[in-house]
Amino acid sequence: MIKTVATTAYQDQKPGTSGLRKKVPVFAQENYAENFIQSIFDSLEGFKGKTLVIGGDGRYYNREVIQKAIKMAAAAGFGKVMVGQGGILSTPAASNVIRKYQAFGGIVLSASHNPGGPTEDFGIKYNIGNGGPAPEKITDAIYDRSKSITEYKISDAADVDLDDIGTLKIDGMELEIIDPVEDYAALMEGLFDFPSIRALLASGVRIAIDSMGAVTGPYAKEIFENRLGAPEGSVRNFVPLPDFGGHHPDPNLVHAKELYDDVMSKDGPHFGAASDGDGDRNMVVGKGMFVTPSDSLAIISANATVAPGYARGIAGIARSMPTSAAADRVAEKLKIGMYETPTGWKFFGNLLDAGKATICGEESFGTGSDHVREKDGLWAVLFWLNILAARNESVKEVVTKHWAEYGRNYYSRHDYEEVDSDAANGMMTALRDKLATLPGQTFGALKVAAADDFAYHDPIDGSVSKNQGIRILFEGGSRVVFRLSGTGTSGATIRVYVERYEPDAARHDIETQTALADLIAVADEISDLKKRSGRDAPTVIT
Ligand code: G1P
Ligand code: ZN
Repeated sequence: MIKTVATTAYQDQKPGTSGLRKKVPVFAQENYAENFIQSIFDSLEGFKGKTLVIGGDGRYYNREVIQKAIKMAAAAGFGKVMVGQGGILSTPAASNVIRKYQAFGGIVLSASHNPGGPTEDFGIKYNIGNGGPAPEKITDAIYDRSKSITEYKISDAADVDLDDIGTLKIDGMELEIIDPVEDYAALMEGLFDFPSIRALLASGVRIAIDSMGAVTGPYAKEIFENRLGAPEGSVRNFVPLPDFGGHHPDPNLVHAKELYDDVMSKDGPHFGAASDGDGDRNMVVGKGMFVTPSDSLAIISANATVAPGYARGIAGIARSMPTSAAADRVAEKLKIGMYETPTGWKFFGNLLDAGKATICGEESFGTGSDHVREKDGLWAVLFWLNILAARNESVKEVVTKHWAEYGRNYYSRHDYEEVDSDAANGMMTALRDKLATLPGQTFGALKVAAADDFAYHDPIDGSVSKNQGIRILFEGGSRVVFRLSGTGTSGATIRVYVERYEPDAARHDIETQTALADLIAVADEISDLKKRSGRDAPTVIT
């Protein structure tokens, strides 16, 4: 039976860069999740009788919210819900299921790389029928609705057993619990040259894949160990845990340091990779070489045709504005389109749907393509293995040759987390106010060529997104970018992105922070960041 429940609106359900993210105790408030889910349904039209996909990264509170979402979907009039067994679907796998079964949309429960647990983060994101995150038009409508919602509808059916694969009925709606891995593994096998990768691994190239106690564990086990023949044990931390074992499931040099150190050690594996909480991010390291995500985008694009799924060539590349311009040089050489979008995967959707871009990437350890409408961690790892197999080279050889051909974009991001919100906003306002005065000014050897607050004009739907980050561009291709995170859940996170282009191969082996030292100093001088934030060093450097 369908119940209508009276509720009181919350005023803080504004979706950020990637859905609504809050601490679990916030989500656990009375009707908090219900209000947001009903606000999603109330903002959509034409879904009666259609299919909704639901899945999450397995973090704490995942199962509880999935039970609610299933019962609310039944009450809203969906014809069918497809949910991953155990409530599990990695973000790219959810995107694939939405597309493959032509679902109306999907609800993805995740807070990505943020920690999980009773006092940690949780999130709800709505994806549209193309498999990608809802565009701002929809997320704005959801937020508006959430501020005035007065009731929601829910089936009073008993909780379902999420672990039992099969089909059942809930108040007239069909519920199918599916194997979360099968469709995704088949997709990957269709895109990449599995026989070559299998031969590479059989030849003695040892890999270590760290799932960081998060959602990619079952996917990685199936793909790397079962299908590609990597020895058992190649996939680490493969059991998805509600609190990710107490770690940040964030694949970067800080949180995946153990893997990094292992690959860099003399007898360690030749190749290492890690994924984040919900499986859309990736980190790739080879012996003696960490691959920056910006370089990874460029190198995958430059070598794309080695993979069967991309043998016809790529139509274009898209990157978020703060991502380095390394990929731009590849696009130039391939004579294909290059698109610069605001931060967040949702901005790539239109370009991918229109066939303008094939490969997309962000500096934040996100790479992907038109195979789904999310970034895809394991896809990137498989692409790298396919490239290594095809070129018969190590990661280090591939990267250094790429730099020699295209030049190197030294790149780093400095994050200042949990800064006082007023101080962070004050810094951004002050920066905005002085933008007009910066061009022409010199700071040591650096001369400002241009400065602006990035605005994106979507070439497909004509929408405009303003205030997407402050860019200070120097002559010669160096730049610093400032923006505030849209995914943090406490205080403000200031991100400073620093980039320097070095065409000369003789100068390609400088330590990154050293190569960028002058720009880092100038970034502080222009923004007064340290004084305003009260911090003398970043929380995280990637
Ligand atoms: C961060 C990243 C961004 C990514 C998003 C979701 O957003 O910077 O590239 O798309 O997480 O994974 P931010 O916190 O910077 O708004
Ligand atoms: Zn993620």
